Amino acid sequence: MLPSIRSAITGAAKYHPEKIVTNQDLSQSVETSDEWIQTRTGIKERRQVKKGQAASDLAVLAIEKVLKKTQTNVLDIDLIIVGTVTPDMMFPSTACVIQNKIGAKNAWGFDLSAACSGFLFSLGTADQFIRSGRSKKALVVGVDVMSSIIDPQDRNTCVLFGDGAGVVLLEPLPDGLQLGILDFIHHIDGSGGELLCMPGGGSLNPTTPETIEKKMHVVHQEGKQVFKFAVGEMARVSEEILERNGFKPEDVTLFVPHQANLRIIESCQKKLGLPNEKVMVNIDKFANTTSATIPSCLAMAAKEGRIKKGDLVLLASFGAGFTWGATLLRWAY
Ligand SMILES: CC(C)(COP(=O)(O)OP(=O)(O)OC[C@H]1O[C@@H](n2cnc3c(N)ncnc32)[C@H](O)[C@@H]1OP(=O)(O)O)[C@@H](O)C(=O)NCCC(=O)NCCS
Repeated sequence: MLPSIRSAITGAAKYHPEKIVTNQDLSQSVETSDEWIQTRTGIKERRQVKKGQAASDLAVLAIEKVLKKTQTNVLDIDLIIVGTVTPDMMFPSTACVIQNKIGAKNAWGFDLSAACSGFLFSLGTADQFIRSGRSKKALVVGVDVMSSIIDPQDRNTCVLFGDGAGVVLLEPLPDGLQLGILDFIHHIDGSGGELLCMPGGGSLNPTTPETIEKKMHVVHQEGKQVFKFAVGEMARVSEEILERNGFKPEDVTLFVPHQANLRIIESCQKKLGLPNEKVMVNIDKFANTTSATIPSCLAMAAKEGRIKKGDLVLLASFGAGFTWGATLLRWAY
């Protein structure tokens, strides 16, 4: 039986820290160049937190904006899900830290670890709580402070990532309106785990002077292999979700892919046969902010008028794990 309610994004906001780190800046500390970074990744600059600024701080600044925009009373928020791989600390969860900072006294919540798919997996999870009637106003956050887990001396990774936060407010709408989340598909494949990971600091390799010495507390990546997998799977899952809902790529108003590499985005775009104006890109300014890329793109797209009520929007992600997925929705405001 079809559910009588759908969940819909009724507001979106983002926050990126003020400090800009350009490719030129990075070329002062590692052997790289603006030309190499731009041609291989599409990235021109990224943002970086100031000392002491944690994931919860970025998230709270985005949340304050979305609550204001949607005129939502924080006491009405009943659920907070935070997609992140850079929580303030191992525990308590960043959801608890955020709940306390914003004073959401009637909310429960948790962190969700799915790397660059963190936001989409969180959105799909919140969707289930809304559809079942257990949540009426959920905050779905994607936030990462990648500068906290990157080796600034490793040119293979330090040029790729940035810090940022995005958030959406998810609320129930009557199914008959045909707005909101239509479908999602999520996948994991743990066999790719070692290709993109941070091996130290968990129960397998608790922090010791040796794990620090071996640089186990920073991101390790086999870029080429990750690239190949990302290109194939993000396009495949996008085609699958369109097809099973009876849509063609040309029905999509805006494709919002995870921002890991402009060449990955362009390859998916080509496979889907979409023109540039239907593809959201902000990697040039913000680099890969992991969980924050998709919600920050949505906030920008809505603000710039690139999506309007009723438009079909396709979201697609790929990340460490491997994790990947797609979400199809009709924009609701
Ligand atoms: C990381 C990535 C940009 C590298 O691009 P690439 O075209 O695959 O480049 P390669 O790995 O072939 O590296 C080519 C050379 O550039 C060098 N290189 C790596 N980083 C460099 C940098 N920042 N500046 C200059 N040279 C660099 C490499 O050492 C290599 O040198 P070598 O041939 O002497 O060994 C690309 O593989 C990528 O984006 N992968 C996916 C990453 C991703 O999306 N991760 C997140 C998933 S959510």
